[in-house]
Amino acid sequence: THTVCYDSGYLNTVMARSSITYIDGEQGIMRYRGIPIEQLAEQSSFLEVAFLLIFGDLPSKGQLDQFSKLVADHSFLHTDICDYMRSFRYDAHPMGIFISSMAALATTIPAGDLQQLDKHIYRILGQASTIAANAYRHRIGRAFNEPRMDLGYTENFLYMLDRLSERDYRPHPAIVRALDILWIVHADHELNCSTACMRHLTSARVDPYTAISGAASALFGPSHGGAAEAVVRQLERIQTIENIEPFLERVKAKEERLFGFGHRVYKSFDPRARILKEQVEKILELVKVEEPLFLVAKELEQRALQDEYFRARRLYPNVDFYSGVIYRALGFPTDFYPLLFAIPRIAGWLAHSREAQLAEAQLDVREHTHVVRPAQVYTGSAPRPFVSLEAGD
Ligand code: CMC
Repeated sequence: THTVCYDSGYLNTVMARSSITYIDGEQGIMRYRGIPIEQLAEQSSFLEVAFLLIFGDLPSKGQLDQFSKLVADHSFLHTDICDYMRSFRYDAHPMGIFISSMAALATTIPAGDLQQLDKHIYRILGQASTIAANAYRHRIGRAFNEPRMDLGYTENFLYMLDRLSERDYRPHPAIVRALDILWIVHADHELNCSTACMRHLTSARVDPYTAISGAASALFGPSHGGAAEAVVRQLERIQTIENIEPFLERVKAKEERLFGFGHRVYKSFDPRARILKEQVEKILELVKVEEPLFLVAKELEQRALQDEYFRARRLYPNVDFYSGVIYRALGFPTDFYPLLFAIPRIAGWLAHSREAQLAEAQLDVREHTHVVRPAQVYTGSAPRPFVSLEAGD
C-alpha cells in the first residue's frame, strides 16, 4: 500500500535523483555539474556546456573538437524532412513546424536503431538547429540554407538563418557570442516542466526524437518557454510609458499576469536574468536600434521592482524578460523566440534522458525504474448503469 498526497503542481514531489543542475532558489544560485553558471556564461561555449551537461564533465580540447565535428557531421537533414517542412502554411508558427519535424525525424531512422540515446545525441543536436533555421526560412519565404561544417554551433545557426546569396556571409562575432551566452543560460534548469516531461516520456521508452518533440511541446506553453514571446507581445500592447501604470493596476487586480516576472524556484533573483540583463545593454549598444519598446521594458522593470505587490510576493524579472528584449533587438520575429529557447534546452533534455537511462541500466532499484504514472483522486460520478439511446427517449 502507498500513502498518496495531493500535489497537482509536483511542488513537493521528487521524481528523480539528478547530478546535472543545482539550483538554490533562495540564494539565486545555479550550477551545471557543480560549475557556477556565471563562469560558464563568461568563459565557455554552448557546445562545451552541452557536453558538460550530457556527459558529466567539461570536455578536453580533443573531446570538444570531436564532439563539435560529430554534431556538425549530423546537421544535414533528410530531403523528405525538408519537403515536409516546406508543406506547412507560410504563416505556420515556427515552433509548430519544429515540434512536428522533430517527431517526423524518427520516421527516417530504422525502428531498431531508435532505442539507444547515445547514437542519436549528435544527430539531435545537429539537426535541431537546421530544423529551426529552416522553420525560420520557411516563415520568411526563403530557400533553406545548408549547414556549414566549418562554423561553430551558434555561428552556423545564424549563418543558416541569414545567408541570402552565394556571398560568403558571416554573422557578426559579437552576436554569435551573445547567442552562445543566451544558449548557455537556457541549456538546463533541472526539473522544469519540459524536462520533467522528457523524463516522463523517457520512462515510457519512446524514441528520443518523439520525446524531444514532446518536451518541446511542453516548452511551447506561455507559462514556460513561451514567456519571452509573451513578454514582447505584452510590451507591444503597453506601447507607451503612460500605459504602464494602468497596466500594473490590472496585474495587481489579477486581471492579467506580468510576463517575464516571477519564478517557481527563484524567490530572490534569477541568476540567469542577471547575466542577460548585462547582455541587453551590450546588444542595444551594438545594434543601435532605438525603439520605444526598450524604454517601456526598462521602465516597467523598474516600477514593478519597486511595487509593493511584486515585492511582497518576491516576484523578480526572470530569464525570459531579458531574452525577449534581446531577441527583439536582434530582429528575430516574435513567434521564433520559443524555438530559440528550445534548441539550447535540448542539451538539458538529452542529459536528463541519458541520466535516467543510465540509472535504469544499472538496475538501481531506487532509481528511475518505473513508468511515470501519478495517482489521482477520483471526483466523478458514483457507479451508475449504462442507459441506451432508445431507453433514454
Ligand atoms: N504577475 C503577477 N502576479 C504574479 C506573477 C506575475 N508574473 N507571478 C506570480 N504572481 C502572483 C500570483 O498571482 C500569486 O499571488 P497570490 O499569492 O495573491 O495568489 C503569487 O504571485 C504566487 O504565484 P504562483 O502562481 O503561486 O507562483 P508559481 O511559483 O506557481 O508561478 C510562474 C511561477 C512562473 C508560473 C508565475 O510567476 C508566472 O506566471 N509568471 C509569468 C510567466 C513567466 O514569466 N514564465 C516564465 C518563467 S521562467 C522560464 C521558465 O523556467 O520556463
